[in-house]
Amino acid sequence: MAERTSAEERLIQLEYIEKLRSFYESRITAGNAPSYHIETLGCQMNVKDSEKLAGILRDAGFVFAASEEDADLVLYNTCTVRENANQRMYGRLGRLQYLKKQRPEMLIAVCGCMMQEPDEVACIREKYGFVDIVFGTHNVFRLAELLYRRLTEEKQVIEVWEGTEEIVEDLPAVRKYPFKAGVNIMFGCNNFCSYCIVPYVRGRERSRESREILHEVEKLAGEGVKEIMLLGQNVNSYGHTLEEGISFAELLRMCASVPGIERIRFMTSHPKDLSDELIAVMGEDRKICDHFHLPLQSGSDRILKAMNRRYTREQYLTLVEKLRKAVPGISVTTDIIVGFPGETEEDFQDTMDMVRRVRYDSVFTFIYSKRTGTPAARLPDQVPEDVVKDRFDRLLRLVQETAAEALDRNVGKLLPVLAEEKNRREEGMLTGRLTNNLTVNFCGGEELIGQIIPVRITENCGFYYLGETEGR
Ligand code: SAH
Ligand code: SF4
Ligand code: F3S
Repeated sequence: MAERTSAEERLIQLEYIEKLRSFYESRITAGNAPSYHIETLGCQMNVKDSEKLAGILRDAGFVFAASEEDADLVLYNTCTVRENANQRMYGRLGRLQYLKKQRPEMLIAVCGCMMQEPDEVACIREKYGFVDIVFGTHNVFRLAELLYRRLTEEKQVIEVWEGTEEIVEDLPAVRKYPFKAGVNIMFGCNNFCSYCIVPYVRGRERSRESREILHEVEKLAGEGVKEIMLLGQNVNSYGHTLEEGISFAELLRMCASVPGIERIRFMTSHPKDLSDELIAVMGEDRKICDHFHLPLQSGSDRILKAMNRRYTREQYLTLVEKLRKAVPGISVTTDIIVGFPGETEEDFQDTMDMVRRVRYDSVFTFIYSKRTGTPAARLPDQVPEDVVKDRFDRLLRLVQETAAEALDRNVGKLLPVLAEEKNRREEGMLTGRLTNNLTVNFCGGEELIGQIIPVRITENCGFYYLGETEGR
C-alpha cells in the first residue's frame, strides 16, 4: 500500500526517472541507449498502463526495441481473465530464459493483472528466479523506482500491492497515435460478475477527479489529439466514489466541450448503470461517437442471474431501443460468453434470440473459462467442451450473418472518417474509423492520416467497409 501521498509519489518517481537516466549515461558507450520491449496482453486498461510504462522508460532515456531479442529490458504486461492465459505466459517466460542465458545483462519484468494473484507471484519467486522485477496493477507508476532498485541492489525485486486509494497524476506516457488517446476515468470494478476475475486483480472502484481528467483532455487537445476514449471497467458508475457529485453523462459533456476534441468514445459500460441522462446526452452532443458497447454476456434471464449481472433481457432490450431512438444509426456492439455453468440449449437459444433481435454490428464471443478464484468456478454443471464448442460455432455464424446485414445501412452514405493508418495489406490504401467505430478502407495518401475527412461508403465487406474520398 502507498505510504506516500500522490503528490509526493509523483515527485519521487520523477526523481527516479532522472536517477535511471544518470545510471545508464555513466555506463553507455558510443551513444548506445538502453532499449525496451513491452508485450501487452488483455484489455484497454493494460494498453493504457503500457503507455505509462513506455513513457517512464522514454523519459529515463530508453529507446523502443521492436523485438525481445534486441531489448535490454523486456516487460510482460499480463492479463488473467481466462485461465489458459497463465500457461501461455509461463511458456513465453521459458523462451525468455533462453535469451537471457545468451545475454545475461538483459532484464525481465512481469506486471499486470496476473501478478495480482499471490499464487502466480509465488510461482515466479520459486521457479522463475531469472525474472528481475515483478509488480502489479496498482503500482505501475513505480517502474522507475523498481528498475533502479534492481540495478543497484542486484537481486529480484517484487512489489505487488493489494489495492490503493491513491491515484498518481501527471506522469509521462507514450501514445501509439498522435491524434487519438485513451484517458482513464476510473480504476477497478465493484460488480463481481460471478465468472470474472477483474474485481480481484484490479481492486475496488475508484474514480479520478473530474478536474484531473479535464486537465489531461485539455493537454492532449493541445498536443493535437482529436479523439478521446474514456476508459474504465464500468464507466457508467463514474463518480460514485467521488465527493464532488458528478455523473458519467456530465463528465462526458465536459470532455466533449474541450476545444480541439472532435470525437469522444468510452469503454466499457454495464447495462445496469446505463442512465436516461447518458442516453439523452449522447443524442444531443454530436461530438460523442455513435457507438455503444453494451456487454450482454447471456440472453437467458436464468443465466444472467447466476452471472450476477443484475439486469434482465427485457431491461436490456429497452435500453437498446432507447439508445436507437435517441441516436439514430448508432452502432451497438457486445460481449457474449457461451457455456457458463448450467447453460442449457434453451438458455443458449435465448442468447441467439437476443442476437437476432438486437442486430449487433459486432460481437466479441468468448468461450466460458473456468477462472480459478471466481464463484462460478465452483458451480456444478460445467458444460462439456464439445457442447460449448458447437454452441460457440453456431453463435459465431449467426453473428456474422446478422452483423453483415446490419452493416448494409451505411452503404451509399457520405460519412466522416478519421484516417488512422496505412492499410496493412494494400499499398495506397488507408484505414479509417467512422464515429460508430466501424472501419473503412479507402484510397488515400499518408498525409491524410490524423484528419477527419468525408468518405463515401461503397461496399459492405461483412465487418468493415470499402469507401471512396470525393473530389480528391
Ligand atoms: N468490464 C467489462 C469487461 C471486462 S472483461 C465489462 O463488464 O463488460 C471483458 C470480457 O471478457 C467480458 O465482457 C466477458 O465477456 C469476458 N470474460 C470475463 N471473464 C470471463 C470468463 N471467465 N470466461 C470467458 N469470458 C470472460
Ligand atoms: Fe468483470 Fe463484470 Fe466487472 Fe466487467 S463488470 S470487469 S465483467 S466483474
Ligand atoms: Fe485482462 Fe486485466 Fe483487462 S485481467 S481483461 S487485462 S483488467
